[in-house]
Amino acid sequence: MNSILDLQSVNKTYQSGGRDLTVLDNVSFSVETGASIAIVGPSGSGKTTLLGLCAGLDRASSGSVELHGTKLNGLTENQLAALRNRYVGFIFQNFQLMPTLTAIENVMVPLELRGEKNVRPVAIDLLDKVGLADRSHHYPTQLSGGEQQRVSLARAFSNQPQILFADEPTGNLDAETSEKVIQLLFDLNQQAGTTLVLVTHDLDLAARTQRIVRIKGGKIVSDARV
Ligand SMILES: Nc1ncnc2c1ncn2[C@@H]1O[C@H](COP(=O)(O)OP(=O)(O)OP(=O)(O)O)[C@@H](O)[C@H]1O
Ligand SMILES: [Mg+2]
Repeated sequence: MNSILDLQSVNKTYQSGGRDLTVLDNVSFSVETGASIAIVGPSGSGKTTLLGLCAGLDRASSGSVELHGTKLNGLTENQLAALRNRYVGFIFQNFQLMPTLTAIENVMVPLELRGEKNVRPVAIDLLDKVGLADRSHHYPTQLSGGEQQRVSLARAFSNQPQILFADEPTGNLDAETSEKVIQLLFDLNQQAGTTLVLVTHDLDLAARTQRIVRIKGGKIVSDARV
């Protein structure tokens, strides 16, 4: 498979205050398997919305999204969830950790959902990689923003996704932690061949990917190889 992700003429509109708000306007692009790309653009331009559609977390109003050779449009919620669990890792802008689970339990969930056994050592190893081995029994409210972000990263890595979507993965991190996280992301891309799709305001980070897609007012305004 040459491209792991393919969008054709995707539109997303929300109903807001009795009128339609177009958030994504005729977006088409595809991402080659194993590539690293950054999506950049002003606040409110549609980046998070776009990532959600690409990852099968949300549905387009029209147009088609194909992920790992499967068209998402016709799938049921269960089929979408199964596809995500199998191929997709997602790091949310607001982390979305489960508040009633500890750090290690949050990391174990996707593994357990896949029916894997003996997942604790795998989760410990992942938390260790993001520098949080000593926080594994903390609940999200007992972690700092950057720590929650790193748990979210470990969780996204846990099922060895074919494609990883990360929404502002370094947004809340200090320079040193940020560099560690970036290194982990690119290691995953280079060693495991995981396709990386990053949304970032950090232009230095964007420049380290192979390709920068710029979006403004819901439209792609440029798409360039770095
Ligand atoms: N559920 C919703 N209902 C109505 N409007 C929405 C909804 N979700 C997002 N929007 C609007 O869609 C637009 C794009 O939002 P989105 O979150 O994709 O922006 P973004 O590019 O990720 O911005 P940021 O850089 O601030 O994270 C915004 O104007 C937002 O207000
Ligand atoms: Mg956003």
